[in-house]
Amino acid sequence: MLTPTAKIWHNGRFIRWEDATVHVLSHVVSYGSSVFEGIRCYSTPQGPAVFRLREHVRRMLDSGKIYRMDLGFTADELAEAMLELVRVNQMDACYIRPIALRGYGDIGVHATRNPIDVYVACWEWGKYLGEEALAEGVDVCVSSWNRLAPNTLPALAKAGGNYMNSQLIKMEAVANGYTEGIALDTAGYVSEGSGENIFVVRDGRIHTPPLGASVLPGITRDAILALAKEIGIPVIETIVPREMLYIADEVFFSGTAAEITPIRSIDRITIGKGHRGPVTEKLQTEFFGVINGTRPDRHGWLSPVYAAAAVK
Ligand SMILES: Cc1ncc(COP(=O)(O)O)c(C=O)c1O
Repeated sequence: MLTPTAKIWHNGRFIRWEDATVHVLSHVVSYGSSVFEGIRCYSTPQGPAVFRLREHVRRMLDSGKIYRMDLGFTADELAEAMLELVRVNQMDACYIRPIALRGYGDIGVHATRNPIDVYVACWEWGKYLGEEALAEGVDVCVSSWNRLAPNTLPALAKAGGNYMNSQLIKMEAVANGYTEGIALDTAGYVSEGSGENIFVVRDGRIHTPPLGASVLPGITRDAILALAKEIGIPVIETIVPREMLYIADEVFFSGTAAEITPIRSIDRITIGKGHRGPVTEKLQTEFFGVINGTRPDRHGWLSPVYAAAAVK
């Protein structure tokens, strides 16, 4: 359950959490017409800092562009709104959810005259797939649902309606006793989880599906590509056949919510040794090291909430 904070940012001003409501006949309610982001603010030795803020803002503006939604705010304005929100709510570690939606007005599908409302909320949030998942790994299945077919819904956009597909994947997985589902693309190749990108390790090399395999261009995915190269683990962005999952040495998810979560079984087939493998662990060490200060933030991934010029 959500724990409310005091304020939510709405179109340039702060309103009370309770007042951030939309009318039931707003366009977004019927048609899923929203674009949004999920961002983590971490508690670091230098105080709260937002992970890859600039990249998240950029993806949100990109999602809006794809869906012909002009958010009416610049990248700098949105980034500053998020930092200010964390300050106003006096949060330390938290999850930040900016969302832009087509609001109340016309009810037809073509409702370009409806206002675009932009909100940013934040709240406290723990580990998405469970605390112990980061060390032990999770049990997952291959979903009977495919990811979005090319040229149907745009997978590169993080848009509300796209998550009807994610819900089907996740609900089916949980109903069958798994933590998460891995969806294939419409060609039958591995795509991603309902809310995570996926990486497959075999013989010391990492494979991950390319952006053309109906995946969200994950910002954590991008961080992993950079970290793996730096520590000398080859990464190949390539189509991944389903059966490659079963014979992998290691498989792991990445995402803002899931961070880097190992997968220990898929369709009840044990992956590698059935627990977190060495490549996954090395990447976790690098990733969490940037956040907890044991590794330098050499990419400028952290935007300190309380710095004067906070957005890098
Ligand atoms: C469908 C989907 N894939 C992948 C991801 C991971 O993306 P990121 O690392 O930017 O959070 C997410 C989470 O936003 C997602 O919803």
